[in-house]
Amino acid sequence: MFLLMQIIFFLLSLISHEHEAIAAFVPPYSSVVVPVNKHIDAVKPLYSVQIMTAFVNQQYMHANFLIDLDAPFIWHECILQWNTFPGSCPNDTLCTYPASCEEYQCTEVRTTYSYQNPSCSPVTNDSTIPDWGYCTCPVNVVNPITGSCSQALLNYDELTVNTSNGRNVFTGLYGAYPNAACAPSSSFQSFPANVTGVMALSSSPYALPAYLYDPLKRIIALCLPSNLSAPGIMLYGTGPYNLLPHSNVDIRSLLSHTPLIKLPDSFGYFINVNSIVIKTRSIAIPMNTTAKISTIEPFTTLRTDIYNGVVRRFFKVTQRIPPANAVAPFGLCFNTSTNGTQVSIKVPDIDFMLQDGKKWAISTTNSIKQITKDVACLAFVDSGATSEPAIVIGTFQFEDNFVVFDLENSTFGFSSSLLRKQTSCSNFNFTLTDGP
Ligand SMILES: *[C@@H]1O[C@H](CO)[C@@H](O)[C@H](O)[C@H]1NC(C)=O
Ligand SMILES: *[C@@H]1O[C@H](CO)[C@@H](O)[C@H](O)[C@H]1NC(C)=O
Ligand SMILES: *[C@@H]1O[C@H](CO)[C@@H](O)[C@H](O)[C@H]1NC(C)=O
Ligand SMILES: *[C@@H]1O[C@H](CO)[C@@H](O)[C@H](O)[C@H]1NC(C)=O
Ligand SMILES: *[C@@H]1O[C@H](CO)[C@@H](O)[C@H](O)[C@H]1NC(C)=O
Ligand SMILES: *[C@@H]1O[C@H](CO)[C@@H](O)[C@H](O)[C@H]1NC(C)=O
Ligand SMILES: *[C@@H]1O[C@H](CO)[C@@H](O)[C@H](O)[C@H]1NC(C)=O
Ligand SMILES: *[C@@H]1O[C@H](CO)[C@@H](O)[C@H](O)[C@H]1NC(C)=O
Ligand SMILES: *[C@@H]1O[C@H](CO)[C@@H](O)[C@H](O)[C@H]1NC(C)=O
Ligand SMILES: *[C@@H]1O[C@H](CO)[C@@H](O)[C@H](O)[C@H]1NC(C)=O
Repeated sequence: MFLLMQIIFFLLSLISHEHEAIAAFVPPYSSVVVPVNKHIDAVKPLYSVQIMTAFVNQQYMHANFLIDLDAPFIWHECILQWNTFPGSCPNDTLCTYPASCEEYQCTEVRTTYSYQNPSCSPVTNDSTIPDWGYCTCPVNVVNPITGSCSQALLNYDELTVNTSNGRNVFTGLYGAYPNAACAPSSSFQSFPANVTGVMALSSSPYALPAYLYDPLKRIIALCLPSNLSAPGIMLYGTGPYNLLPHSNVDIRSLLSHTPLIKLPDSFGYFINVNSIVIKTRSIAIPMNTTAKISTIEPFTTLRTDIYNGVVRRFFKVTQRIPPANAVAPFGLCFNTSTNGTQVSIKVPDIDFMLQDGKKWAISTTNSIKQITKDVACLAFVDSGATSEPAIVIGTFQFEDNFVVFDLENSTFGFSSSLLRKQTSCSNFNFTLTDGP
């Protein structure tokens, strides 16, 4: 009898295991993960994601794409080839398949989802490529650093990234097949070294988020590193998100949320800012001021009326810190040298008060930029009396902050400085694991 019970129990457990195996046939990953690097060899600090592009000689080629929250589509250095076979693509070159001018994607990217830039000349159809009987699809691309316009050709691209559970990198890969565009190397002038593409993360249907499918949800988590030698991360998909050393803490539990605002004529992301508070005193800002979030602008820019209010208040609360002459583009700087040695200064938070009383606290590491050993400045910039948008939140203000663009729920999640939580954007555990 006992034996029979044991056998039945064994069979039951087998069945339930089988059940589990079937029920668990959802992919083991909740997101895809890519490393984010900071570059300081261009005119301003910029950030790139590293993506696998083509599989050549038994290994993936990697390319760095500039992170751009506004770009209408992805573009990078490559050439079009219609009949790619092993060896047909020149060495050290990336070859992709052309899109034709007769396809609807071409019309859409040229019209509705194009760069809006008056300096761009109209595109033509007269281009073709060897041995291909169709017209190619030239599209205008605007260099986000110099603002100059050039022509690229729409393609059928293939981008590969690693899957993840939000804690480690899985060996399993995920492929995305966007219509991107191939641009000549001359289109990447003033880019950081080894950055040869623009990764559009905007809400455009031709940006990356539109090409990532189930089970991934349209949620972009971005954590820009301040550290040049240890990458930050971009994760796409639902959480959890875990960073060392507290790998049991889901970063989602540290986030506050505010609605993401869509503005006409922009594929970028905006939030409402109600006021800016420094040491309990509120700096009034006009009703319904929207702030754009930018990965290209290095420092937060404020329209003059808002800027003056912030600087006046900040000056008042930092009077115990010796001043220094202002260093452009900043207007308020401090002397950080005492008896010839550099001292670190600590300043009150600058709190961006958002909808529903949510507070984005900008602490010293994100508000004070050390310029030289002797001088540190309030890292906000006056963008002029009529600048539109009135506020652009630049990257210095959200390095080592975890931010989440949830396009499913149209919310923006933010952690404020992770350094206050004893971690940083450079603390992802990139150890490759096989998954569960
Ligand atoms: C391209 O690279 C392969 C492998 O490294 C090499 O065998 C081949 O000779 C190269 N071709 C040219 C044209 O340089
Ligand atoms: C290019 O060719 C396509 C297909 O023939 C046509 O629909 C489109 O209007 C042309 N565009 C230009 C700018 O000539
Ligand atoms: C992604 O996965 C590939 C193959 O498993 C691996 O070689 C590569 O190092 C991984 N990339 C990162 C950033 O971990
Ligand atoms: C660019 O890439 C090359 C080859 O991968 C590498 O040797 C070089 O150090 C890189 N340069 C920078 C500035 O990252
Ligand atoms: C930057 O990363 C390197 C490599 O992980 C580490 O040794 C260094 O301490 C980090 N620097 C800072 C300021 O966190
Ligand atoms: C501010 O936004 C609210 C809600 O979106 C709207 O009802 C109100 O009219 C706006 N006020 C101004 C001055 O634009
Ligand atoms: C900072 O203050 C010290 C005196 O404490 C002075 O010698 C030095 O020149 C000042 N530096 C700047 C950049 O103002
Ligand atoms: C600076 O040096 C002077 C003379 O050596 C000393 O009296 C003073 O305490 C020092 N100040 C600080 C802040 O260390
Ligand atoms: C987004 O919305 C879904 C369903 O409406 C909800 O289950 C989920 O918790 C929301 N996510 C966040 C981060 O608010
Ligand atoms: C990183 O992840 C691997 C695999 O899960 C784990 O073995 C290792 O302990 C983790 N590293 C740290 C520092 O926790």
